[in-house]
Amino acid sequence: MNRRYRKTIIAGNWKMNKTASETKKFAEELKALLPKAKWCDVVVCVPAVNIPAAIKAFKDVRVSVGAQNLFYEKSGAYTGEVSADMLKDLGVKYVIIGHSERRQYFGETDFTVNKKVHAALDAGLHPIICVGESLEQRELGITMELIALQVKSALAGVSAEKLRKCVIAYEPIWAIGTGKTATAEQAAEVCTFIRTTVRHLYGARIARSITIQYGGSMKPSNAAELLGQPDIDGGLIGGAALNAKDFVEIINAANQE
Ligand code: 13P
Repeated sequence: MNRRYRKTIIAGNWKMNKTASETKKFAEELKALLPKAKWCDVVVCVPAVNIPAAIKAFKDVRVSVGAQNLFYEKSGAYTGEVSADMLKDLGVKYVIIGHSERRQYFGETDFTVNKKVHAALDAGLHPIICVGESLEQRELGITMELIALQVKSALAGVSAEKLRKCVIAYEPIWAIGTGKTATAEQAAEVCTFIRTTVRHLYGARIARSITIQYGGSMKPSNAAELLGQPDIDGGLIGGAALNAKDFVEIINAANQE
């Protein structure tokens, strides 16, 4: 973390978990445990149908509600899809774009990720852009090339001014839901590389101000070490974000001096 230059953001990605009533229950538990300190921003990215329940439940605390996906067209005959304006209108602030599960199971590509990033920014949402390599790609030694490609394509055509609204999340696929966390060194190496890539594209001042998260089996026991790396400005948390106590412990780790 480097709070002098950029925001620390702890975001939960619930994936396809919890009903609307469970959302309300979680919010009550979280509110009872949330620390008073306000150093880090807290975001909860819930399934689309639970957004109204989450907005209502968190309206009196500093917890932002995020979505997990959007479709890039503004409106029209796209059965089952949700637009950026629809999310914005509900009070959503952040939206995860290009999560590896969406790339893997729903055919998202660097090209569609870029279109979704633009749609989110045009609607005034903050995209949390996910990048990350598979185990095979890491073993082939092409992690950095792949990350550079994902970052550059996601940001193609994004102005420097709009980049300020973006968050980038490094999520190595082999660490997601596997309990196998990247070591702090591995995570830091790629997050630093992402910042360098942004610097080449936008210059040092903007690169210094962008929030870069790590995601992949982040939990109370490893959060402090990961967040202690200068280029890791927060976490995108799956499993551990489903439990209010674990989630708060990670928030507390981000609030350390
Ligand atoms: P886990 O924390 O369950 O590994 O999931 C990480 C993730 O995919 C967050 O987007």
